[in-house]
Amino acid sequence: EYPLIYKVALPIPPVKQPKKVITNPVTGKPIWYYEIEIRPFEQQVYPNLGPARLIGYDGMSPGPSIVVPKGTEAVVRFMNQADRENSVHLHGSPSRAPFDGWAEDVTFPGEFKDYYFPNEQSARLLWYHDHAIGITAENAYFGQAGAYIITDPAEDALGLPSGYGEFDIPLILTSKYYNQDGSLQSTIGEKDSTWGDVIHVNGQPWPFMNVEPRKYRFRFLDASVSRSFALYFATSANLNGKLPFQVIASDAGLLEAPATVNQLLISMAERYEIVFDFSKFAGQAIELRNLPKAGGIGVDDDYENTDKVMRFMVSSGSVSDLSTVPAKLRDVPFPPSTTGIDHHFLFHRSNGQWLINGVGFEDVENRVLAKVPRGTVEIWELENSSGGWSHPIHVHLVDFRVLQRTGKDRGVEPYEKAGLKDVVWLGRGETVLVEAHYYPWDGLYMFHCHNLIHEDGDMMAAFNVTNLQN
Ligand code: C2O
Ligand code: CU
Repeated sequence: EYPLIYKVALPIPPVKQPKKVITNPVTGKPIWYYEIEIRPFEQQVYPNLGPARLIGYDGMSPGPSIVVPKGTEAVVRFMNQADRENSVHLHGSPSRAPFDGWAEDVTFPGEFKDYYFPNEQSARLLWYHDHAIGITAENAYFGQAGAYIITDPAEDALGLPSGYGEFDIPLILTSKYYNQDGSLQSTIGEKDSTWGDVIHVNGQPWPFMNVEPRKYRFRFLDASVSRSFALYFATSANLNGKLPFQVIASDAGLLEAPATVNQLLISMAERYEIVFDFSKFAGQAIELRNLPKAGGIGVDDDYENTDKVMRFMVSSGSVSDLSTVPAKLRDVPFPPSTTGIDHHFLFHRSNGQWLINGVGFEDVENRVLAKVPRGTVEIWELENSSGGWSHPIHVHLVDFRVLQRTGKDRGVEPYEKAGLKDVVWLGRGETVLVEAHYYPWDGLYMFHCHNLIHEDGDMMAAFNVTNLQN
């Protein structure tokens, strides 16, 4: 039993500062150059037990947040000072293939690799995390994950609650198991899922945050190995009354218009940004909660406290709040529409192995499941036939539109519809259609389930974007 629920303040990952600014020799534009060490550190999670020994970016988990303006390129040198190999993926970035964290392109202990990120995208929350072949779950679980925020003037001009760490707060969710001695339980050998019985926000189990009675922007990222969430807010006095909030952004940044909801479904690797208005709750406590089995959509194992996430203590009195949430946020660049299904992918289990169309990533001869001519718009049909399991499916390189979901539980959620995504939650028995524009460059890219246990074992394949018409 974790003894300090809602007693430790929410940590905010620090913003990483570039080590220097270099000049792109071709364009003359500045490139922000960073150095990040992947190294061991200890975290005292249980006050009365031993520390957990973790490995994280710059020795912290989550890693430091990288915050860059759109159009400013970045080079990040990741230096492996750990005891096993790594590969870094900037999730959501259309990185050139050599910098995309290809699972077999690993960096060994004592080595480093420089990753180039174009940052040409509009404002959004990306995240960087490990992607090393067969040990992604273990590496991410033990700490290798962090936020990467692109800002842009168009978003800044909207007047949303702002100021990183002040009124614009990353909330990175994870769920873990600990051993009796306070150390973190390994995921190695797990074949199904690592659900976790301890919910963390920004690395801290069940934290609290002091807030003012005003609007806040919260950037949710589910960085769990296996746990999905159905998040809702309630007053401590009435935990069943779900309070309304506005979803303003998803994986690929701002939605067209805010979606007002009282519950948010988020699965692994998905990002959703919301605005919650505490102004009516001065002097009260507001809890962020999680519905069992992620609201019935998930298949997660629940424990005594997995219905709790964190608590907000709202100060009394009133404050002036000039922030707003405009009724229109932006024109989302949806892909030009097309018809017909270009590829069908079945996510299933066979002989204990997690597969896509009968293929696992280990099957080197067969794992390239699609050749996509560069510049085309394709519709992919993703079908979950693995009985009681759910799979959040991530396609590298592109942002996609979720066109349709069929299944018994639900259709496309309003906050999935109003923007672009790079992960879609494929629930039990669901089939989803996603439409994407495959550009801007050629290359071999991965797509996979983001339940990291499934990804490692071996629900991952590749697609090849090529300029050859085929
Ligand atoms: Cu978030 Cu292929 O990864
Ligand atoms: Cu899966």
